Amino acid sequence: MAKQTDPVPAARPFLKWAGGKTQLLDELEKRLPEEIRTGKITRYVEPFIGGGAVFFYLNRHFSFEHCDICDVNKELILSYRVIQNSVQELIAELENLKSAYFSRAGDMQEQMYYEVRNDFNLNLTRIDFDEYNDAWIERTAQIIFLNRTCFNGLFRVNRRGEFNVPFGGYKKPDILNQENLHTVSALLKKTRIHLGDFTTCQEQVNDRTFVYFDPPYRPLKRSSSFTSYSKDGFSDADQVRLAGFFRKLDGSGAKVMLSNSDPKNEKPQDTFFDSLYAGYYVGRVPARRRINCKGTCRGDISELVITNYPQPDE
Ligand SMILES: C[S@@+](CC[C@H](N)C(=O)[O-])C[C@H]1O[C@@H](n2cnc3c(N)ncnc32)[C@H](O)[C@@H]1O
Repeated sequence: MAKQTDPVPAARPFLKWAGGKTQLLDELEKRLPEEIRTGKITRYVEPFIGGGAVFFYLNRHFSFEHCDICDVNKELILSYRVIQNSVQELIAELENLKSAYFSRAGDMQEQMYYEVRNDFNLNLTRIDFDEYNDAWIERTAQIIFLNRTCFNGLFRVNRRGEFNVPFGGYKKPDILNQENLHTVSALLKKTRIHLGDFTTCQEQVNDRTFVYFDPPYRPLKRSSSFTSYSKDGFSDADQVRLAGFFRKLDGSGAKVMLSNSDPKNEKPQDTFFDSLYAGYYVGRVPARRRINCKGTCRGDISELVITNYPQPDE
């Protein structure tokens, strides 16, 4: 499993997702376990897949015999399954949305965006999310279309599960990238896709597995511990539960890596993660991310990368 020098096919994320790890890839790569390069690791498991920046990156550079991905978000997992099973039909749906969109003038594009958004929200109660069916294909096309044309390109739903992001008004949104969808589909054909809590993948993990956890960030500004939830509804109690799961997987001989926000950026005395992961390797890496302000200011802050094996600067 030596690093591939000429990485093809180059599948990349098909959705822009909150908390995407593209900016952290270099730092994560430096901290990959050696066994990924020597061939001892044959399986990759990512229990909080989101947009999959790390999953796609690793598969561009290394080859695994098996991959397992998981997320609790049913719309996201539905999209992965459609690309795995019905990519040609999905491309046809996106083709229709794309030509309808670009055949309209500006205001009419906005109107079309809200029509698609409305239809997507109405279907929320009509769709059978449990069993694979044709309606999933149209829904995935709508998810990709909305993701490309909405403001800031993020998938965000309200408490009722309705997509509520306003129109983005971008000049040339990249609604359909056929080539990428095909390469993603080829990769997903050898990937098991799970819907559910991060513990769902436990059975797949053994001493030849690399697991990467990218849970929802622990909010830097919090009201009080254990009651404060991230936007994904992930509380401090869930972070504690995850640390217990990390220990369990460590016990199975797997190599495990986890990233999260570093509370010390805001409160140097906050040792929440240092205590939770005592005995493991807690690295702090530079990350560019918004801190302490709404929208405009970005600063260089650190992010945590925790592993159950030594990191280069250890
Ligand atoms: C920070 S994002 C992952 C981002 C991803 N690494 C990327 O590059 O796009 C966290 C993900 O965790 C998922 N999630 C939240 N709670 C979960 C749980 N209990 N089990 C599994 N996934 C969960 C969210 O739906 C979200 O997709």
